[in-house]
Amino acid sequence: MSIHLQGLQELTHLIFISMKDILKSNKALKTVLREIAGVAGYMWERGWAERNAGNISVHVSDLLGHEIAEKVSLPVTELPMEYPKLAGCVFFVSGKGKRMRDLARKPLENGLFIKLNDSANGYSILSSETDSGNFKPTSELPAHLAIHQMIAERGSSEKVVMHSHVTELVSITQAREFCKQDVLNNLLWSMHPETMIFVPKGVGFVPYFLPGTLDIATETIKALRDHDVAIWEKHGVFAIGENVPDTFDVIDILAKSARIFFMCRSAQIIPDGLNEEQLNGLKTLASNFQTLPQ
Ligand code: 13P
Ligand code: ZN
Repeated sequence: MSIHLQGLQELTHLIFISMKDILKSNKALKTVLREIAGVAGYMWERGWAERNAGNISVHVSDLLGHEIAEKVSLPVTELPMEYPKLAGCVFFVSGKGKRMRDLARKPLENGLFIKLNDSANGYSILSSETDSGNFKPTSELPAHLAIHQMIAERGSSEKVVMHSHVTELVSITQAREFCKQDVLNNLLWSMHPETMIFVPKGVGFVPYFLPGTLDIATETIKALRDHDVAIWEKHGVFAIGENVPDTFDVIDILAKSARIFFMCRSAQIIPDGLNEEQLNGLKTLASNFQTLPQ
């Protein structure tokens, strides 16, 4: 049963928040939006963002919660399941069907702020800059929220969830031999030393499922429990991180490894790759690196 409250659009429109006004005084939020715009542009430039490909969500309750605490009487759209750890939380999410290249120029017009209700089974759109009639959060919202819920359950500090159709990584999953998680990780780690250092937990492999479904969301959180990134067979990647640039960097590093592999192969070179001893050395370096003060 839908819990969308019909007929209140006109009345409630009056209390949608003007993010443009909020951003005038909220420098931290402004920075996050600038970072989202920057990364959306990089995705487009790298050819990972055809049409509306890819989406992003950022947990911004810490940056925005107090400014919208009293704005509760907005229409609520039902979610496909409950996310109890996210009750009352606020997220910036890219819009369904919106282009990354447009998000890069106008983040407020191509993304929206949503707040989950106290029962965590529905959300309200907060921002007024969007065309509220047709504008919805990304179709991958079930996966994004499931991942934010997993992060909240384990009490870790990631705020960002990023999905992209990374050509190099999608290409690798076209080969059955690389659809095995250990084989895939060994290939990616062995192409460049920095991959082990910056993606030490490697990638979790998610076999093909219909996009936008609860099934793919469930498989993605399983993959992200022990890994830095989930790779969706023949579709793209999901990465999590503490901030927007770092999350993008992890995806970029994996793409670089895959690109090295394909460049070698297209030059008829069978890449040697780093050997086991070299990879073990990097693993030790990576664990020391993680414990170094920033
Ligand atoms: P959205 O436009 O709904 O975000 O979908 C893009 C996408 O990549 C689906 O997997
Ligand atoms: Zn996608």
